[in-house]
Amino acid sequence: MPAAEWITRSSEETVGLGRRLAEQLRPPVLVLLSGELGSGKTTLAKGIISGLGAAREEDVTSPTFTLVHEFHNHAKVYHVDLYRVDNFRDLESLGLEDALAQPAVIVIEWSERFVLRNDWPQLTVHLEHLEGDARRITVSEAAAPA
Ligand SMILES: Nc1ncnc2c1ncn2[C@@H]1O[C@H](COP(=O)(O)OP(=O)(O)O)[C@@H](O)[C@H]1O
Ligand SMILES: [Mg+2]
Repeated sequence: MPAAEWITRSSEETVGLGRRLAEQLRPPVLVLLSGELGSGKTTLAKGIISGLGAAREEDVTSPTFTLVHEFHNHAKVYHVDLYRVDNFRDLESLGLEDALAQPAVIVIEWSERFVLRNDWPQLTVHLEHLEGDARRITVSEAAAPA
């Protein structure tokens, strides 16, 4: 999928977009969510993670780091929020390295806070507030960074 832009007008629409994005995700992949507080990162993560069948929408919150689900084929889904992670030492202590040891879907909120060095394909998603409940959501797919 090339870079694409959507405007959503409610949180339900953003969840719906997340569910559609989930259909295209195959581990290993990093889903990098950026955008200011309240822009809808967790809302989109609800759609993605519930769309993967890894958790119910209402059970997806903003944890610093959590293994959401492990499927019977051992594929794992993680949800990470780097908002409260202040430095590299804290980042290292999360256990992200272990998560990266085998193919998984790792959804990361506030991904812009750190440059994550690894060779997984990435889906980057930037969310912006527009007027009222409208959000601009820009999605681009990147092969593994060099
Ligand atoms: N179009 C929309 N997309 C996503 N969230 C929306 C939208 N319109 C209103 N909202 C509201 O904005 C807030 C987004 O919060 P959240 O997803 O936790 O943001 P973030 O994780 O980026 O801080 C929620 O209260 C949600 O109901
Ligand atoms: Mg959040």
